[in-house]
Amino acid sequence: MNRKWWHRSVVYQIYPRSFYDSNGDGIGDLRGIIEKLDYLSDLGIDVVWLSPVFPSPNDDNGYDISDYKNIMEEFGTLKDMEELLVKANHKNIKILMDLVANHTSDEHQWFIESRKSKDNPYRDYYIWRDAVDGKEPNDLGSVFSGSAWEWDEITGQYYLHLFSKKQPDLNWENPKVRQEVYDFMNFWIEKGIGGFRMDVIELIGKEINKKITSNGPMLHPYIKEMNQNTFGDKDLLTVGECWGATPETAKLYSNSDGSELSMVFQFEHISLDQIPGKDKWDLKVLDLVDLKRVLSKWQTCFDNNGWNSLFWNNHDLPRIVSRWGNDQEYRVESAKMLATLLHGMKGTPYIYQGEELGMTNVRFSDLSDYMDIETLNMYRERFNQGYSHEEIMESIYAKGRDNARTPMQWTAELNGGFSAGTPWIGVNPNYKMINAKNQVNNENSIFSHYKKLICLRRENDVIVYGDFELLFPNDENIFAYTRTLGQHKLVVICNFYGKNTPYKLPYELNGKKAWELSNYDDCRENLLRPYEGIMYLLA
Ligand code: NOJ
Repeated sequence: MNRKWWHRSVVYQIYPRSFYDSNGDGIGDLRGIIEKLDYLSDLGIDVVWLSPVFPSPNDDNGYDISDYKNIMEEFGTLKDMEELLVKANHKNIKILMDLVANHTSDEHQWFIESRKSKDNPYRDYYIWRDAVDGKEPNDLGSVFSGSAWEWDEITGQYYLHLFSKKQPDLNWENPKVRQEVYDFMNFWIEKGIGGFRMDVIELIGKEINKKITSNGPMLHPYIKEMNQNTFGDKDLLTVGECWGATPETAKLYSNSDGSELSMVFQFEHISLDQIPGKDKWDLKVLDLVDLKRVLSKWQTCFDNNGWNSLFWNNHDLPRIVSRWGNDQEYRVESAKMLATLLHGMKGTPYIYQGEELGMTNVRFSDLSDYMDIETLNMYRERFNQGYSHEEIMESIYAKGRDNARTPMQWTAELNGGFSAGTPWIGVNPNYKMINAKNQVNNENSIFSHYKKLICLRRENDVIVYGDFELLFPNDENIFAYTRTLGQHKLVVICNFYGKNTPYKLPYELNGKKAWELSNYDDCRENLLRPYEGIMYLLA
């Protein structure tokens, strides 16, 4: 397989608003990130993905961009961004920018023009339609509740917004729109970024009249065109957010001929704890056998032609230790076990800020403590549909996006050391116990465990390129697999639950252990303790 630098990289996602506030206004900023570069370098990551840092009215925390070539005032200046790039590069850390090209803010100059009149030169930058029988043109819904169409009085037409009404969708069929996107991508490439994470990229090829939104007929041609006009001849990492990706489409996106992207985020494993056919708020207990089936399918589907991303968390998802681990009695064990399981797999691992500390979900008692537009809209919608307050709050505690967005917990001091001012969103009260200061110099911490995993990936080709084989596919407690490259065999065995579980390897694995990494002090023959996770190399 054609080897790439990002095959052996580990990416760390920063949600700048909640990472570190350097000036006491309660909002994380770029200088805050610069101050924490040593922390990132100590952890050992090679790449940072920055959630959007561009000017934005923050209806969706920066995913509604009003100017693609500048920096949000609350976060700093273009100069700060340039300084961050230089200082990160000195530490061999590349920076990925978040490319939000399916939609802009309604406060972007293009939309301000577009809504002025039907013959405005920017009219066709967005998707406008007449009313049908006095109503919305069709029944497309917004991801953030309600119709995807918003009536605009000024010109008497509807515009499309698959997210909030302050996020109008761009019209990718218009070649001028595509050129504008390529232009600002090149602006950032010239500044020396390491690549792009592409927000909901699978929506750009939509065909509205047929109500096809995801994976539309023009999707791959547009991505290829983008590739040729921007990063195609540069050695960058590009990762597309694709909720609907299947192994077949993922092979197209991440084809090793380099014509599209480096890899995609697929979400099949992430959707396993919701009731099929319902939405993410309708909870179902995770079935480990399902998780194994899905993850091993993605581990084996590419045959050297395509590449995976590996992740448990991001800014839209609840904290993994509260989700499929145990965030109470076995928080440390389960956070390490989940890390071991993921980091032993084939693909590029992504760590979301705070995951390396075992940060947990939050339970704010008051709805007014929640900031996320998706959560608040869902609350209103479900309350009107007759759900009880308690029922809705349980869904929010389990799945709300603010679980991931509470400030990074740096110390046991005021506001978890995140800010000297009042944080824009509440800090998780467990910061006195869970914080970076407690962990960075502690050999047995979750942070140190992540550090070891990152190091092992760097030093062992078998972790990067080894073939994956699932063991015990039907076992309901244990997730175990091997990775094989030539003489080297990596073995990973994880107990997903809080009880002792006996196991027996299905066949003799020959060879001597060259090294071993565990979340317990010792290993017991054929017995896994609660959330025990072991990785070892036979050589
Ligand atoms: C996906 C992003 O991850 C999410 O945070 C955002 O709300 C939507 N795309 C819309 O941009």
